[in-house]
Amino acid sequence: MSVDPRTLGWLSRALSHEMSAVQQYLAQSVLARLWGDEALAGKLRSEAVEELGHAERLMERLIAVGVAPSAGNLPPSRLGRSVDDMLAADRELEVEAVRLYQEAVAHARRMRDGDSATLLAEILAEEMQHVQEIDSLRKANG
Ligand SMILES: [Fe+2]
Ligand SMILES: [Fe+2]
Repeated sequence: MSVDPRTLGWLSRALSHEMSAVQQYLAQSVLARLWGDEALAGKLRSEAVEELGHAERLMERLIAVGVAPSAGNLPPSRLGRSVDDMLAADRELEVEAVRLYQEAVAHARRMRDGDSATLLAEILAEEMQHVQEIDSLRKANG
């Protein structure tokens, strides 16, 4: 199966984003536990697991088209000094994800690559959900 190289670029960029998100949420979960906030630690850990699921689905697509998954250098996790800082960094991460997937879906559709477009659109919908989840955590945090 031959896939447009720029679509492969979007899939790889998306994978790098997901691996960064796993790292950030997992690191924040560890920090929240150190702060004694077990409830927040649990929520952040579940976010990390969801992002891991996204990474896995992107890898399935990459491997199906014959490309070995390779996330780029991961940026440092943004931890913050307070729950507020942490969640603000997470909101930025999720908004970046939404932008990335919107562009990726548009590209895959232009290339008439239905399988990639469907996968990317499904993940886009979940990232939009993540923005809402982070917003409700921020509200709960006051
Ligand atoms: Fe994700
Ligand atoms: Fe996300």
